Amino acid sequence: MHVLSIENITKSFDGLQVLHGISLHVDKGEAVAVIGPSGSGKSTLLRCATLLERIDTGSISYGGEPVAWDAPAGENGKAAKSVYAGKNELHAIRRRFGLVFQSFHLFPHLSVLRNLTEAPVRVLKIPKERAKEDAMRLLEKVGLSDKAAAYPFQLSGGQQQRVAIARAMALSPEILFFDEPTSALDPELTGEILKVIRTLAAEHMTMVIVTHEMAFAAEVADRVIFMDEGRIIEQGTPKEVLEHSENARTKAFLRKLSDN
Ligand SMILES: Nc1ncnc2c1ncn2[C@@H]1O[C@H](COP(=O)(O)OP(=O)(O)O)[C@@H](O)[C@H]1O
Ligand SMILES: [Mg+2]
Repeated sequence: MHVLSIENITKSFDGLQVLHGISLHVDKGEAVAVIGPSGSGKSTLLRCATLLERIDTGSISYGGEPVAWDAPAGENGKAAKSVYAGKNELHAIRRRFGLVFQSFHLFPHLSVLRNLTEAPVRVLKIPKERAKEDAMRLLEKVGLSDKAAAYPFQLSGGQQQRVAIARAMALSPEILFFDEPTSALDPELTGEILKVIRTLAAEHMTMVIVTHEMAFAAEVADRVIFMDEGRIIEQGTPKEVLEHSENARTKAFLRKLSDN
């Protein structure tokens, strides 16, 4: 059973088709890196997978629990929009994944500790004391146990992003999504984020990571997916895609990156 199963999804914004039939299956313990030029639909794919955007057609499920599925074609033969599960089902499925954005989206008025305990206490009804213990363990993991009482504005961008990762982990997700987690950071701060993600990979956390850090993708990913213009052009081991690709578009993309 796949942790995440995406089958042939499409998505348009105002008539502009952004995803052209993407399929993606992620197994437990897998780290998948998604690479590709700006505008190729990477964020849209993640936003559809995490229910922030609705797909037009295709299907999505988590651990076999359906999120959305293809509707039968309408009378005019046109594909109807995918059908989504009910509110309660979707609410339960949201607990299965965590999402870390480019910029950190912490609650500005809450301490670091409260940022981490808020959802477990409110959503999962975990007792406050236990939620605090769990939060402290997570802060230790991301190297910020000394910042529990601080507020987000008192932290560097890299520290805020590490809090965001700890917060995503606090709901014990089965899969974590990262959308270019280092791209809003100064180069000297990206290392501390990559280190945290590396630790998660070593613990076999299931992850989908959109990144433009190729060396990092090569190091942590079990599989690299190259997207261009709303399609998966190629996928394989980091070696296959990043070093030995025969695909003209992949090669052009990688060449451009290394020229910069
Ligand atoms: N909410 C939106 N409304 C309209 N167009 C969008 C929206 N989100 C993304 N797009 C468009 O979809 C395309 C893919 O964007 P995106 O998924 O952000 O690509 P990437 O993350 O690979 O850079 C782009 O052309 C972008 O302008
Ligand atoms: Mg993006």
